[in-house]
Amino acid sequence: MTSPLLEPINAALATVNDPEIRRPITELGMVDEVSVGPGGEVQVTVLLTVAGCPMKETLTRDVSSAVGKVAGVSSVGVNLGVMTTEQRQQLQASLRGGQPAKEIPFARPGSLTKVLAVASGKGGVGKSSVTVNLAVAMAASGRKVGIVDADIYGHSIPAMMGVADERPTQVEDMIMPVPALGMSVISIGMLKPRRDQVVAWRGPMLDRALVQMLTDVYWGDLDVLLLDLPPGTGDMAISIGQHLPNSEVLVVTTPQAAAAEVAERAETMASMMHQRVAGVIENMSYLVCPHCGPEHRIEVFGTGGGHEVAATLSKRFGYDVPVLGEVPLDLRLREGGDSGRPLVLDDPEAPAARVLLDVADGLVAKGRGLSGMQLGLSPVSR
Ligand SMILES: Nc1ncnc2c1ncn2[C@@H]1O[C@H](COP(=O)(O)OP(=O)(O)O)[C@@H](O)[C@H]1O
Ligand SMILES: [Mg+2]
Ligand SMILES: [Zn+2]
Repeated sequence: MTSPLLEPINAALATVNDPEIRRPITELGMVDEVSVGPGGEVQVTVLLTVAGCPMKETLTRDVSSAVGKVAGVSSVGVNLGVMTTEQRQQLQASLRGGQPAKEIPFARPGSLTKVLAVASGKGGVGKSSVTVNLAVAMAASGRKVGIVDADIYGHSIPAMMGVADERPTQVEDMIMPVPALGMSVISIGMLKPRRDQVVAWRGPMLDRALVQMLTDVYWGDLDVLLLDLPPGTGDMAISIGQHLPNSEVLVVTTPQAAAAEVAERAETMASMMHQRVAGVIENMSYLVCPHCGPEHRIEVFGTGGGHEVAATLSKRFGYDVPVLGEVPLDLRLREGGDSGRPLVLDDPEAPAARVLLDVADGLVAKGRGLSGMQLGLSPVSR
């Protein structure tokens, strides 16, 4: 005899997403069994994709709380099992949705994901800080955001998002990105076999790593994918151009940056990649005067670097490369990076956060996505 509670319980379970795949556990075949006792005692068996899944606490908590809210349920027990190989393969096939393996979803014609590659002429200019804060800002406005940390010289993105020690879960030959601050993250540092291992990343290996992060990782439907590139030009830039031809480039620079150097590198990069440079972000532009407030900008590192770079790029490419924003120095931006709490989350009113929120808004507003798509609709005749 089936309990009348089963239906509302199943509906409640359908509201629980797998934290990594971000789809309802009911759709993923993860709910194995539901039993209801005479007094409304519920036992749910949830199948983890792999044993020792790092998300099991989250899942248990989410299932308990969803089912516990159903009227008539007196208690919830969650039992965890593990998928069989067949079940995992089925899940993998259904996630691919009939797409052949080894295809980059973002390069597919008609892909609605806006791909932004964040580049800089040299390291230490705040490329990763800018990437993370832009991503958080976009996620805060409701976008589904993925981040690929492709900087081989300093893969600092996971630490900046508070997931430095996490490793992605593997389901068959599919890699689940690490959930962080409501986004999905994968870092080239997570693909190294051992953390302390020094790997000399070279062209073909880099290319393979990039392709792996784009194809083997289950990204789901993303509105925006941000890539933190290694500084300067190089093999990674060529790979991006080949594999993500419709990505756009954001150049991060500082006020004192040698415009010629950055421009030269960016030119090589963009011409190899046939990508559009969406704009320049000047970081560490000034210090907000602690006495007078935002009206008084103390120009610590000189001035004009961003505009100089933008002007040089505009001239070389023959289209307008704008300065999208000037991000002031803010000690908390640094602290936020160290503690895994990005500034735009912690203090969205801080001058640096406001600039980054504005830049993020501008980038997604005029981006692809449904609003810019030709839907092929024609007016209905009356
Ligand atoms: N606007 C800023 N104000 C203060 N510190 C910043 C700012 N931008 C970046 N930083 C700090 O500068 C250092 C380098 O930034 P990072 O984002 O790692 O640069 P990159 O990725 O270009 O190497 C980090 O310690 C970071 O916290
Ligand atoms: Mg970096
Ligand atoms: Zn002052």
